[in-house]
Amino acid sequence: MQSNADLVILNIGQLVTCSSDGKPKRGVAMRDVGIVEDAGVACIEGKIAAFGRSKDVAAAFVSSESIDADGKVVTPGFVDPHTHIVFAGNRLDEFELKIEGADYLDILKQGGGIISTVRRTREASLEDLVEHGISRLDKMLACGTTTAEIKTGYGLDPATELKMLAAIGELDLGHPIDIVPTLLAAHAFPPEFADDNDGYVDLICGEILPRAWDWYTRSHFCEERRPIFADVFCERNAFDLRQSERILKTAKALWFGLKAHADEFTNLGCSRLAIELGAVSIDHLDTISDDEIKLLAASETVGVVTPTVNFNLGSTHFADARKLIDSGCAVAISTDYNPGSAPCPSQPMTMALACRYQKLLPSEALNAATINAAFAAGAGNRAGSIREGNQGDLVLFNTSDYREIAYEFGAEMAELVVKNGQVVFDTHQA
Ligand code: NIG
Ligand code: FE
Repeated sequence: MQSNADLVILNIGQLVTCSSDGKPKRGVAMRDVGIVEDAGVACIEGKIAAFGRSKDVAAAFVSSESIDADGKVVTPGFVDPHTHIVFAGNRLDEFELKIEGADYLDILKQGGGIISTVRRTREASLEDLVEHGISRLDKMLACGTTTAEIKTGYGLDPATELKMLAAIGELDLGHPIDIVPTLLAAHAFPPEFADDNDGYVDLICGEILPRAWDWYTRSHFCEERRPIFADVFCERNAFDLRQSERILKTAKALWFGLKAHADEFTNLGCSRLAIELGAVSIDHLDTISDDEIKLLAASETVGVVTPTVNFNLGSTHFADARKLIDSGCAVAISTDYNPGSAPCPSQPMTMALACRYQKLLPSEALNAATINAAFAAGAGNRAGSIREGNQGDLVLFNTSDYREIAYEFGAEMAELVVKNGQVVFDTHQA
């Protein structure tokens, strides 16, 4: 007797499951992407009901939405665990300044960079922020991303940080991509606190974090038991270690999950701090020390690397993700999609860069962009891998070998994207 499925995909050349034992992958396990050949998958009520040999799935399920994959590759939807895509304006002038030799952190110190986006974002209406956010999420979806973390951090005052959280909430409800919210009020010092940096830390700890937590407790994220994170940019010309510690400890006491921008340009000791506080992820890690790599490997914290940033800044120095993996750290990759350091919506492009400059194999890059990225976003129990009961988030690629997702670059290979068992992007012709 056949069961009714909402969607079946049959005749899949490689079904790449990226499944793990309930934890992020480490070490040699990152080379295993869990391929089922000549496969099929069925979704019921938004979830993966079954997968296996194509003929077995065809025999067990009947569906009005039956897709012939034509021998191509199906993977889990990508998870992008670090983005800053709610903002107004652009940074095209800064792009040209950097081409002519200007330094990213010097531009910030002179009141440009992140602060120029803050000016535009403060002026923008909630509707405008949501509209721009949707067009960026559309680009990410077309690249195969089905879950994305989004940070605030272009408000830097209570009203605008809360406006950004409201935009993030609306994007989650109004777009197929699932959103994970992160408060990054500690992204830079706003101009009104240029001479009183600790005064801004007081404002974050005394007002912005508590109001953001209050927003969260009344939001659908909390109702659906989905997490919210707090993050800090610990860096020269941004927050020092002492300020970062105050902010992360205050956030932890309020029950935020923790993240940190650590070691992007300068090692100020933030990796150790964040690992010891139990951060879910520490991100960037370009200048992490060997001692901190050992601590990371021995912890549950996921190390997120962002090779798009180095590429965009025209740098030849990348985080040593090879060493992180070989040392036993759980490693994920993200686009860091933002207007300044990484205007890139594509996890396949991030994979392509990670393979070339960080010496990841395509298998490691794929696990880093799916299962490990899901754990970095606090969503490893439902997204980032193909297993029964997980969300029906799938991508069909125009290739018969998954390694080509990282091998070819510059053109997007996603033909069909399924979110919660529904086709949400489709250029596939079987
Ligand atoms: O992850 N480093 C700080 N934040 C972002 C850049 C944001 C921006 O330049 O607007 C990053 O690189
Ligand atoms: Fe970032």
